[in-house]
Amino acid sequence: MTCKIAPSILSANFLHLEDEIRAVEKAGADILHLDIMDGHFVPNLTFGPGLVKQVRRTTNLPLDAHLMITNPADFIDKFIDAGVNYLSFHIETDSNYKELFRKIRKQNVKVGIAINPETSLAGLSSVLDEIDYVLIMSVHPGFGGQSYIYDSAEKARETRDIIGNRNIEIEIDGGINFETAKLSKEAGVNILVAGSFIFKSEDYQYTIQGLRNV
Ligand code: DX5
Ligand code: ZN
Repeated sequence: MTCKIAPSILSANFLHLEDEIRAVEKAGADILHLDIMDGHFVPNLTFGPGLVKQVRRTTNLPLDAHLMITNPADFIDKFIDAGVNYLSFHIETDSNYKELFRKIRKQNVKVGIAINPETSLAGLSSVLDEIDYVLIMSVHPGFGGQSYIYDSAEKARETRDIIGNRNIEIEIDGGINFETAKLSKEAGVNILVAGSFIFKSEDYQYTIQGLRNV
């Protein structure tokens, strides 16, 4: 199974963001991962729909917004209007999450359930008809450059079993390098998010192709 590679711009040089995006696109990225943090759900702040709109004008890559915010319902329409193609949020943040899944899907945007390292997969089987992908966090969300939590590969494997033959993608996010990409891929992951490993590397093409071919 070939993996899609999704660079997270969290670790890009924001003073040269347009060049950074063009560079990963040219280097073979499949998706651009956008980490949205609010300082409440996670102890960090990033950017909002305004910047995403500008990113949309810069690239044709599918945009994957990962909402790490307390009130996703207030922002879903804004990110969809800004042009995202994938939208995930953490279901701990909204008790009406099924309604939100449906609302996102109705607008032809792929919807994902984001699962923190300490969150179990118990709720997953009840939402399989409502989602397009599962985002497994392999670090505690909030910052780039952390180390992969090794239990995540097992979690991906369990997710693959729960999904069965449904058309649901598995994305993994955090601490991805050549070694952890291989473990994740063997566990059934098909979208690898990588921030620091790509943007801190000397040669984006070498790193992206290397991740794809692990
Ligand atoms: C962390 C974010 C990740 C982050 C990954 O909360 O969700 O997308 O950018 O960064 P690396 O690949 O550096 O662990
Ligand atoms: Zn992310």
